[in-house]
Amino acid sequence: MKKTIVILLSCIVSIAILSTVQARPNKRLDERTKSCRILNNGTLDWETDHWGIGAEKFKAVCKGCHSLDNQSGAPFLYMESYGSTGWNNIFAKRTKKCARDGSWDVLTQDELLLVNDYLYRNANDTYDPNDADTCG
Ligand code: HEC
Repeated sequence: MKKTIVILLSCIVSIAILSTVQARPNKRLDERTKSCRILNNGTLDWETDHWGIGAEKFKAVCKGCHSLDNQSGAPFLYMESYGSTGWNNIFAKRTKKCARDGSWDVLTQDELLLVNDYLYRNANDTYDPNDADTCG
């Protein structure tokens, strides 16, 4: 009986610890549009994952300059270059040189939101080895 209680208690404690680990975020508050974007449901779930429009546009546009060994003087960037909050700030403030000089303008506002969603969702603080959603 005592043994069962001990096992039960340690289960509860480990679940409590695991649930505090940062996991892949499921929603994002967008400061510009003042909207809450639900990232793990329907079209947004698909388009903000590695095969969606967000990733595609990030690769096609941002990585067009921010690749390794590029000639444009852009620092190398990939999804884990910043944490979720960092990426959100970059898109909310738009103070980086490339955001101000029109380099982002080939993207529509909707596409920029999706690139922001994609980076937010897969930023460097979102990996959780205990969550099947971020496994691999
Ligand atoms: C036409 C080329 C070009 C494109 C396209 C471009 N960037 Fe940039 N970006 C630059 C350059 C060049 C810099 C460095 C500016 C400087 O010297 O301060 C920069 C700087 C940045 C920085 C600051 C990096 C640091 O370490 O200081 C971030 C973040 C950034 N870009 C994000 C993006 C994102 C997100 C996109 C796509 C939506 C994008 N960029 C598209 C050229 C580009």
